[in-house]
Amino acid sequence: MENMSALAEKAMASGFNLDLVVHDGLVQAKFMVDKIKRAKTFAIREDDIFLCTYPKSGTHWTWEILNMIVAGKAEYTKHWLNSAYLESRTKEELEKLESPRIIHTHLLPSQMPDAIWTNGCKVIYVHRHPKDCLVSFFSQLSKQIWEDNPLQKTAFSGSWADYLDLFLDGYTLAPCGSYFTYRLQMSTISDTYKGFEVCTVRYEDMKADCAREIKRMAEYLGRPLPEQIYRDISEACSFKNLKNACETMKDQTYHYKWQDGSSGYFRKGECGDWKNFFTVAQSERFDKMYEEKMQSPLL
Ligand code: A3P
Repeated sequence: MENMSALAEKAMASGFNLDLVVHDGLVQAKFMVDKIKRAKTFAIREDDIFLCTYPKSGTHWTWEILNMIVAGKAEYTKHWLNSAYLESRTKEELEKLESPRIIHTHLLPSQMPDAIWTNGCKVIYVHRHPKDCLVSFFSQLSKQIWEDNPLQKTAFSGSWADYLDLFLDGYTLAPCGSYFTYRLQMSTISDTYKGFEVCTVRYEDMKADCAREIKRMAEYLGRPLPEQIYRDISEACSFKNLKNACETMKDQTYHYKWQDGSSGYFRKGECGDWKNFFTVAQSERFDKMYEEKMQSPLL
């Protein structure tokens, strides 16, 4: 959809319970605009590590793994992921984090502070099958009420079909905009920022062999560990163990709560749950759009 104002109107009419505005050519929740703007100006440390994801790609999982790699042991962090959320925390909150900071963001490279690319920070980019991301995001937005949403309703109250329709038009509430634009920009960082090296990880590869992917990330970070520690981290960060640790052992300050009875950020943690949501026709429509946008078939 070309016209972003029309997309914002359509999203609100289809069930997004948010005041949506157009900022910098993208539809954004009004309460996020200043946060997105200020994130661009934040000071960067040379040893900062950035975890970049489109929402619902396994951010909580990977962030915990990265913290364990840096600590050199399978010990859970004190806080939830959102304690280090670039576009949600204030400058002062991020300043308080100890180096090396492991900061996560859903912003596009162009929305992030420029010094990341010139200082040569470490960037880990995780992506997941788009249909699973979409189902996971729909499940989140239908259950979560953000503290800073003035309307104090779940972010989305439309149907699955409405949600899919909006996604294909380029709207999901992600501050980076369209899933396709995000994937394309992230995969061309080394061209845009000459020679910048990103560590790209697939959610599905983490599911298949997490210890192997942990090792790859540790080596990229220049922090190799004994093989046994990779296995320990993989086990501590399994879906069941990490869910339990987040819900029962962590300080809950930065846990953005969900409606009672919902499974929260740790819902199913599986590959292929999209098959329980998409009809055959919806899936075919999605595949066609994916192929058009990404210039390759969805595997
Ligand atoms: P589902 O909703 O499909 O279950 P994010 O952290 O980016 O918000 O992503 C959340 C998704 O990652 C959820 O997907 C969640 O269940 C899944 N997830 C979280 N921890 C996981 C783990 N240890 N292993 C596999 N999947 C995990």
